[in-house]
Amino acid sequence: MSDASPPATVAAAGPSAASAPQADVAPPGPAAAPASVPFELDGQPAEALPGETILQAAERHGARIPHLCYTEGMRPDGNCRACVCEIEGERVLAPSCWRKPAPGMKVRTASERARAAQRMVLELLLADAPENGADAYRPDSELALWAAELGVTGARFPRRAQPAADLSHPAIAVHLDACIQCTRCVRACREVQVNDVIGYADRGHYARIVFDLEDPMGASTCVACGECVQACPTGALLPRGVWEAGATAAVRFVPAWDPSFRENA
Ligand code: SF4
Ligand code: FES
Repeated sequence: MSDASPPATVAAAGPSAASAPQADVAPPGPAAAPASVPFELDGQPAEALPGETILQAAERHGARIPHLCYTEGMRPDGNCRACVCEIEGERVLAPSCWRKPAPGMKVRTASERARAAQRMVLELLLADAPENGADAYRPDSELALWAAELGVTGARFPRRAQPAADLSHPAIAVHLDACIQCTRCVRACREVQVNDVIGYADRGHYARIVFDLEDPMGASTCVACGECVQACPTGALLPRGVWEAGATAAVRFVPAWDPSFRENA
């Protein structure tokens, strides 16, 4: 066919196509942006951006909800329950890091019931903390900071037997007595760095963080990228040098997904 030949579709259209109704033809251009979600937050009108969880929307509106297994930039896992909130009409409290607002939902993040549950979670976690406190290995431990903010000063429960320190790795000190099993290190290792060295073994009382097939960290396939150290909210995983300095060195913990980290690199 020469270049001068009309395209077959034009030739086939003819006058009947020109007079066809146009109502069903979608207009070209970008799809409409999803709408934000209006809901009530602690008695005040609030809006969640598309895809936002209650926790993300609440933080944007200035609410303070403790959270440990969730951190910005990481997918929520909903395992620690420090972030529970009350939703009107629902029997059980909901993890705000996981749950998304629905139109008209009434959420209480700091009601007596929600705060009592949040404090109980922190107290239970503190009960297993190292004997010298939740900030034993890291002065800015997220657990210690949230406990202080919510006025949880100690635990009424006995401390369970805790694992010994693992100092087999030249770059990372492992103190799983400070581990709250939030699995942020697992997600950092598996989903952010795709190294898959850190795992979560067993269930219930026996659940624990392991490296490869429960190897000492220094004998595992760890490449010392440090992603787990950045993710850990308690100091259970620390740079070896920081731990040797007595956990008092000024360290800026910056997640690798923090844009300022990349800008300043
Ligand atoms: S080692 Fe740290 S990041 Fe990993 S589960 Fe324990 S507390 Fe969470
Ligand atoms: S931060 Fe929501 S369950 Fe842990």
